[in-house]
Amino acid sequence: MFQSSEIYGGLNGFWDYGPLGVELKRNIKDAWWKDMCQNHNELLQPEGAPSTFEMVGLDCTIIMHPQVWKCSGHYDLFHDYMVDCRATKKRYRFDQVRGKWVTRDAQRVFVTTMAEPDHEDEDLQRRALKIFNLRTKDLEKLSFDARVSTLDKITAEDRPFVLGPDANELGTLTDPREFNLMFKTYVGALSGEEGAAFLRPETAQGIFVNFKNVVDSTRIRVPFGVAQVGKSFRNEITPRNFTFRSREFEQMEIEFFCHPDASAQWYQYWRNRRLQWYKNLGLAGERLRLREHDADELSHYSCGTADIEYAFPFLPEGEYGELEGIAHRGDFDLRSHSEGKLDPKNRPLVVELNEQGQPKHRGSGKDLSYRDDLSNERFIPHVIEPSAGADRATLAFLCQAYDEDQAPDEDGKMQSRVVMRLHPRLAPIKAAVLPLVKKDGMPEVAAEVYGALKKKFNVFYDEKAAIGRRYRRQDEIGTPYCITIDSQTLQDRTVTIRDRDSLEQWRVAIDDCVAEIDKRVT
Ligand code: GAP
Repeated sequence: MFQSSEIYGGLNGFWDYGPLGVELKRNIKDAWWKDMCQNHNELLQPEGAPSTFEMVGLDCTIIMHPQVWKCSGHYDLFHDYMVDCRATKKRYRFDQVRGKWVTRDAQRVFVTTMAEPDHEDEDLQRRALKIFNLRTKDLEKLSFDARVSTLDKITAEDRPFVLGPDANELGTLTDPREFNLMFKTYVGALSGEEGAAFLRPETAQGIFVNFKNVVDSTRIRVPFGVAQVGKSFRNEITPRNFTFRSREFEQMEIEFFCHPDASAQWYQYWRNRRLQWYKNLGLAGERLRLREHDADELSHYSCGTADIEYAFPFLPEGEYGELEGIAHRGDFDLRSHSEGKLDPKNRPLVVELNEQGQPKHRGSGKDLSYRDDLSNERFIPHVIEPSAGADRATLAFLCQAYDEDQAPDEDGKMQSRVVMRLHPRLAPIKAAVLPLVKKDGMPEVAAEVYGALKKKFNVFYDEKAAIGRRYRRQDEIGTPYCITIDSQTLQDRTVTIRDRDSLEQWRVAIDDCVAEIDKRVT
């Protein structure tokens, strides 16, 4: 992965995927699409599901009618709080500025930093010494609070005692202000507000506004899910941690429509199913967890939300980052797009009114209810939304796969190696085809094996360097199998297959090679 526009100095919060990265991310998106949508068998009731269900896909535009975002709540509510530094003109996300109270004699200062977790303490000490006009040897004159806290936990009265992350004097940070995260653009030749539109900050709304199209144009029946994978854009105030928080990223979202009476059960089902998906593909152990939101954390529409989280190595010890949220959204979205934006503060939900007593944001006026043709019941389906990030998943699988161990070289001597233990389904290259030597007809046979495999998988041909070195190159990029053509191949048309993780080697007939790799990587 590279920073976008790197030769021009890069653009903060935007990332490009190189030749291997694009394969890894595509494999993750394909695995999701196949497992959640394409290969779903609507005749079978999966374990833990309240009933059988159908799944279909959708591909919506990135720019939609601006009213979509008004009714979804994004126009009014999709913001983070930011603070500006009057001295340095820098801008920070309110809840991301971290710091500690530091005391000298009777004077207390909240010293802040934006340094990475590994350098946080060091940076806080350096800045504290500077603001108190002390030298390193005087460090013991300062007393540091044990706990790091974020700026949003500091009271307004204490703000004059805050040292901003890049400031040299106290009290330079402004009060927090709302900052809408949607990217604005203009459609057509109109550059004024009439032409204003937004790049979608999530793919989900495209599914809601197509609910009626899907129901009317297919024979699908509730319960069913609609899946979509695509780009989303958020003008994050402080994009950070590589691709974890970027301004352009891809989401893999499902909106699952069900009867209100069964929605609590479906919520449980999707939580468990999605957690299991990550486990099946290799994100197991203590680094992965499912965390149910507390009531005060729930979004305005949600009757229940759980996050699937991963302990990314760049986060402070004990902290987890969100990979996916699974939300029980009730009927908020379909009703908002039908009746007008609902007031999230009211229970039961009613349309939010402006000062004139009219709907603040008018809905489409279209009936988005569903009639069950067997029971004749008409209702507005409830929605369960498993919403995952393709880039965060890619980053998590990368972090999880990285390993260093010992493996023998061609002389049998143990050497340390870097190995990416990616699940074979996710590995960018499924197998490498390696003629043992570049003569005796081995490259020709290897080219034949390579040609047969290449029709089906992303495989790699390499005849350069010693065989041990070639194995190492493949281990480093996570190729699960290496196929070697040796002198025995020339006699009996068998090849050896080497397993990246167990280092086990076995012989297989050339004609069985495609089937052998196929059964292991799909
Ligand atoms: N429709 C619901 C929704 O969009 P979200 O929690 O805001 O929910 C869902 O986003 C997922 O999208 C997150 O769990 C994360 O994986 C990914 N995501 C969100 N913001 C992101 C960002 N700035 N950079 C990378 N991925 C992001």
